Amino acid sequence: MRYGDRKSEANGFRKLFYRIRQGMAWRLDCGVSRWRALIASLRGVRMGSDCLFGRCVRLQAPWRIWMGQHCTVDAYAELKCPTDQSRSGHSNISLGDHVFVGRGTIIDSNLGVTIGNNTFVAPFCFITDTNHVFASKDTLIRLQGYSYRQVTIGQDVWIAAHCVILAGVTIGDGAVVAANSTVTRDVAACSVVAGSPARIIKTTARN
Ligand SMILES: CC(C)(COP(=O)(O)OP(=O)(O)OC[C@H]1O[C@@H](n2cnc3c(N)ncnc32)[C@H](O)[C@@H]1OP(=O)(O)O)[C@@H](O)C(=O)NCCC(=O)NCCS
Repeated sequence: MRYGDRKSEANGFRKLFYRIRQGMAWRLDCGVSRWRALIASLRGVRMGSDCLFGRCVRLQAPWRIWMGQHCTVDAYAELKCPTDQSRSGHSNISLGDHVFVGRGTIIDSNLGVTIGNNTFVAPFCFITDTNHVFASKDTLIRLQGYSYRQVTIGQDVWIAAHCVILAGVTIGDGAVVAANSTVTRDVAACSVVAGSPARIIKTTARN
């Protein structure tokens, strides 16, 4: 046996060991994520089957959150529904099937944030349906209250990292919001928007 053969044999074992270790870690992680989802559902989140929760996900008023099947909420995300302004008894935050909420993303809803099936929200985004009222100059902003407008994000949308989606916005099916964008107006289906405020830069090939 030559030196090279011995080396490649050792590399082969190392790769195999690495794969087994990665596989075990992945399985363990999935199992733990399922347990976290179970705990979230015991806390009041209504969810379909096979949802996964990363670590340190923060839920405020979880009984106002609804999730479809196969959703993933990644670590450090926050789903917050401090109040229910709709008073309709419907969920404030509704996620369809196969929705991914990225690490550190915050969804802050007092009225309604709806996200359609197969939509991917990348890490560190902020989605809100609420604004502070600041019309009066004689009163502190913190005492002027809030205004609320529904946010609707369609199906098969990709919201890239570090985006802000503001109150009243509707994002059409198949749209893409480029990284670091602030969406202040409605986004047409299958369009790609970027910037702050977000403007159309192109349409997706499917259009
Ligand atoms: C949306 C995205 C995919 C578009 O990529 P693309 O189709 O290759 O777009 P292009 O590079 O051709 O850009 C087209 C124009 O939009 C501009 N643009 C692209 N992304 C932009 C952004 N995030 N903000 C502002 N302008 C942007 C480009 O500068 C270019 O302008 P120009 O024609 O004046 O030069 C990419 O910009 C992006 O944001 N990726 C996100 C990555 C990410 O967040 N990943 C997280 C993992 S989920």
